[in-house]
Amino acid sequence: MSSLLSANNINKSFSLEDRVIHVLKNISLTIEPAEFVAIMGKSGSGKSTLISILAGLDTPDSGQVFLANEEISNLSEDALALKRQADISFVFQSFHLIPTLTVAENIGFPLKLSGNHSEETVNELLQKVELMHRRNSFPHQLSGGEKQRTAIARALITQPKILFADEPTGNLDEKNAESILQILIDLQQEFNTALVIVTHDPALAKIANRTINIVDGFVV
Ligand SMILES: Nc1ncnc2c1ncn2[C@@H]1O[C@H](COP(=O)(O)OP(=O)(O)O)[C@@H](O)[C@H]1O
Ligand SMILES: [Mg+2]
Repeated sequence: MSSLLSANNINKSFSLEDRVIHVLKNISLTIEPAEFVAIMGKSGSGKSTLISILAGLDTPDSGQVFLANEEISNLSEDALALKRQADISFVFQSFHLIPTLTVAENIGFPLKLSGNHSEETVNELLQKVELMHRRNSFPHQLSGGEKQRTAIARALITQPKILFADEPTGNLDEKNAESILQILIDLQQEFNTALVIVTHDPALAKIANRTINIVDGFVV
């Protein structure tokens, strides 16, 4: 079976005023279809940089990323945007909801973009994340947990092959973090979506199929 996603010898550096920091050092890894992978590592070890590159939000200095055998690390901005619409979703720690749209409109937004809007699909996801009663609320009227459930529903509405989440429970209390985790796992199983989650939560890492540890820009 071929991997869903593979990264070969990824390098990434950032130039600061007086020095260059080499953040990712020859990182190679693979993610299998429907696999649940936790990425762990100290703050500043390069986790966010890594998943941004794996998700096509950022480009490596050298190395390649392949999604279902197609190289995505050399695509143009436009081609990448289409790829993200079709196959890749991302959930951010700070939610990134569109403030002027309601919960239902935020969730349906990716379908609007691709011209496939369906009220029925939006309603299905609203039910799955238990936000039907909040469908007409705006982001500023929601709790942190509700915002993250909205973001997750929006990320899954396109039935992506792979969902990346960067510390999705980092801004939530324990109870909300637990419920977000459960929703992610249920949806992963239902939609067969591969899940790649950056986390500090040992409970989450335990449930994952595999943990990738990043230390000083290396996979260990
Ligand atoms: N756009 C950027 N410009 C300069 N330095 C950056 C940039 N993004 C990240 N870094 C640096 O790269 C290192 C890794 O950052 P990051 O990937 O965010 O780590 P983590 O998510 O593991 O905390 C840090 O030293 C950070 O300051
Ligand atoms: Mg980070």
